[in-house]
Amino acid sequence: MCGIVGYIGARQAPDVILNGLKRLEYRGYDSAGLAVLANDGTVGVRREAGKLNGLLARVANEPLSGTIGIGHTRWATHGQPNRTNSHPHRSMNGRIVVVHNGIIENFMPLRQQLMAEGVDFASDTDTEVAAHLIEKYLDEGLSFVDGTRKALQQLQGSSAFVVLSPEHPDTLICARLGNAGGITLGLGDDEMFIASDIPAILEYTRRMIFLENKQMAVITAAGYTITTLDGADSPAAIHVIPYDPVSAAKGKFKHFMQKEIYDQPDAIINTLRGRLDFENGRVDLPEMQLTAAIANDLQKIYVTACGTSYYSGLVGKFMIESMARVPVEVEYASEFRYYNPIVDDKTAVLAITQSGETADTLAAIEQARGDGARIWSIVNAIGSQAARVSDGHIAMHAGPEIGVASTKAFTSSIVDQYMLACALAELRGTASAAQLAQWVNDLAQLPDRVGRLLADDRPYRELANIFHKAQNFLFIGRGINYPVALEGALKLKEISYIHAEGYPAGEMKHGPIALIDESMPVLAIVTQDALYDKMISQIQQAKARGGTIIAVATEGDTVIAQEADHVIYVPQTPALLSAVVNVIPLQLLAYHIALQRGCDVDQPRNLAKSVTVE
Ligand code: AGP
Repeated sequence: MCGIVGYIGARQAPDVILNGLKRLEYRGYDSAGLAVLANDGTVGVRREAGKLNGLLARVANEPLSGTIGIGHTRWATHGQPNRTNSHPHRSMNGRIVVVHNGIIENFMPLRQQLMAEGVDFASDTDTEVAAHLIEKYLDEGLSFVDGTRKALQQLQGSSAFVVLSPEHPDTLICARLGNAGGITLGLGDDEMFIASDIPAILEYTRRMIFLENKQMAVITAAGYTITTLDGADSPAAIHVIPYDPVSAAKGKFKHFMQKEIYDQPDAIINTLRGRLDFENGRVDLPEMQLTAAIANDLQKIYVTACGTSYYSGLVGKFMIESMARVPVEVEYASEFRYYNPIVDDKTAVLAITQSGETADTLAAIEQARGDGARIWSIVNAIGSQAARVSDGHIAMHAGPEIGVASTKAFTSSIVDQYMLACALAELRGTASAAQLAQWVNDLAQLPDRVGRLLADDRPYRELANIFHKAQNFLFIGRGINYPVALEGALKLKEISYIHAEGYPAGEMKHGPIALIDESMPVLAIVTQDALYDKMISQIQQAKARGGTIIAVATEGDTVIAQEADHVIYVPQTPALLSAVVNVIPLQLLAYHIALQRGCDVDQPRNLAKSVTVE
């Protein structure tokens, strides 16, 4: 994950910033940097590739002094992580310095336009576009605030920015675009703090403001003004954070599971970060160590995992088979290790595991290794066993997942399989350059789609009021949404203890439809795809038997409201990525039903976060 820290007040800014970056160390990073405005009006910048220690040593040797500054930690960017690509980034004439977390989806056309106007770019990051664009408007005579506002209004995608200008030594500007990339303001006495996460500034103040989507804050040591990106006043609530690390880590959320559901736009951004090459329309997965020989020798991929990670693999099967044309089998790790699967040196075994320590999954890897398979893994926990024993792996970069019910790891691992499918498709020649570029573009728009869904949880609270006393629940879906139905059922049963089943909708008439009556709510995933009409008829069959239908449908669908009793609308999403969006309502529904039932959402009975025993 990326980390951002900003400060303005009477303290030495380098101390506050470096201290804050240390607090964000749990996120890991490949480079770090800071910019401090000295009393003589010059901006000192120090940036280092590698761990934070490198930057600390650099600043110790070449100290900075000043009471206003910004700092940043980041994951590798396009190609190698290096000093050139690390933040902060400056505009061509040095009038603007920015740090950024997120993705500027339309940075390429903006970069080309600025280059045509004579701007020289020093890095290959999307972030640098923002710095030059703001400076362009200052050069045209706009004020610091108006120039920043006008530039940010042109950016698409989910991002968080902090902007510094040597011409305005008493002001910082920060903004949040989209529902990812959080920005927290810390309110001190004649000093103000900015951070992407509470732990970075909690030791200085417990009074915090969390910027919402499309809010911009103009900050001085004396205080702040918050407006919408259009300039309208936009007051924000002040939260007083209890001074204990656990609640600090939860921030404004009641539970880790809730926080992690809302982390998903950020988590998707971070799993994409450094891996999308917009310029060449391709995906770059250096840790997978893929070659054309490996990709073209491949005759089968076995995906093996447990629980939610297994359902993620069922989604990935659709992606990899459709995009890279490699046969994929998906098997529970607890089964894989005992039924003697047909595996050889032309098989890749892909283990998906959030914790990287699940006993069944590690055992399946060992069995596959013994059978001569190539071992790949998709893992979230940094430095865990599964990643260490793999020939190639994709780190989810979703950040710590504390809630026992897995949420952001599910969506991140699906995105990672999509990227793997892109990389394999390119090496196996199963997709044109134009198709690959389209897939990359579809990925870049995903965080914002997920973020839009998280903007309002009222519908889920209302549904939980209606259904929290249900004894049973049925989740149905078809195609890529069948695994999503399985995952929705698992989320509900593991945190609310309601018996819930996921079923392929086409199978209903072969038995399960006998279960349908008014006491059996049916959640149907019926988004606009090739199987939509089939799903509508399934809903009608269930309705005809007295079933109550909750539909997850596509925004703009004008038919579904006549067919279902309740409808949750999700943004139109390319079919192969729709699972990432369609699961969000199921996560939130399970969360609010469990809350209504007074269940222990983060630590449900009988469960553990990582099952390290058989
Ligand atoms: C999912 O919500 C559960 N916590 C559980 O099924 C989990 O997905 C499973 O134990 C696998 O864990 P892993 O991804 O860490 O291997």
